[in-house]
Amino acid sequence: MSDRPLIAAAGPVAGRVATELRSWATLVAGDDDEPLEPAKVREIRAAEGLLIDTRLRIDEELLVRLPALRVVASAAVGYDNIDLAACAERAVLVSNGRGALDDAVADLALALVLMCRRQIPASLAWATSGAWVGGPAPFAHDVAGATLGIYGLGAIGLELAKRARACGMRLAYHNRRQRDDDAETRATYRSLTDLARCADVLVILTPLTNETRGRFSRELLACMQPTACLVNVARGPIVDLSALYDALVSGALAGAALDVTDPEPLPPAHPLYELPNVVIVPHIGSATFETRERMSLLAARNLAAFFRGAPLLTPVQ
Ligand code: DGY
Repeated sequence: MSDRPLIAAAGPVAGRVATELRSWATLVAGDDDEPLEPAKVREIRAAEGLLIDTRLRIDEELLVRLPALRVVASAAVGYDNIDLAACAERAVLVSNGRGALDDAVADLALALVLMCRRQIPASLAWATSGAWVGGPAPFAHDVAGATLGIYGLGAIGLELAKRARACGMRLAYHNRRQRDDDAETRATYRSLTDLARCADVLVILTPLTNETRGRFSRELLACMQPTACLVNVARGPIVDLSALYDALVSGALAGAALDVTDPEPLPPAHPLYELPNVVIVPHIGSATFETRERMSLLAARNLAAFFRGAPLLTPVQ
């Protein structure tokens, strides 16, 4: 390990994050938001640390080309883009951005819950289409008293639960294991099928893993009530989009709000954009100036900790 390690960032690095990194390291930062191109990878062959987000895949192929790499600090909380086994094989440590984006993602999730429950997209379309002059828009449903189902009650889910309680919602959740603080969170533990059955709005917050990929299949979606809505702020591949489309068109499901899709970005001609009961936003869960800076600073501080010989602040392995 050199005195002044080379740190490569997949995207642009500015402000406090750049200042902090440059105070102890040599920094090569991407000049755009694209994943590292082969030419760039040659330039950073000596990189000992990487600062990334979800857009760069860390796999065996990239690791082979970065033989000096010791640590990968992702600004994101999700790390399904990182082959942890390949990193472990080469003793490359990995950190993520957990804790830095809980409020921002919970805020967006709540906004999407409210949009679904109050049918705001359909009302907007009603007003802008001129239909308003012909009479009032159709009624929506109360938020207070409705059951919010959370699939993946972790740190972000707890922030969402806090906000939903303030709106008077009832709470239910599913995790791989029941939590030990249900009395405090006032959330009822359910199997995933029961959660799908009881939720008026079901929010997906679980990480993408082999186990959760495709979890919201045709069969599971069929368990949901026709008045219910599905909100995905986790990862697109957890939901079978074509099954979701069919459920929305047939009236088996009342609405959906997606911050994440599969593929991502969702192509402009995708039929989901045409449905009046669907909100699609472009993966903006953590996309605020303050939160993105906090996430990048946390990644930079994980790198700093590693290179001064301290434990990672938010290790993944
Ligand atoms: C994450 O950090 O995993 C989020 O999806 C980024 O918005």
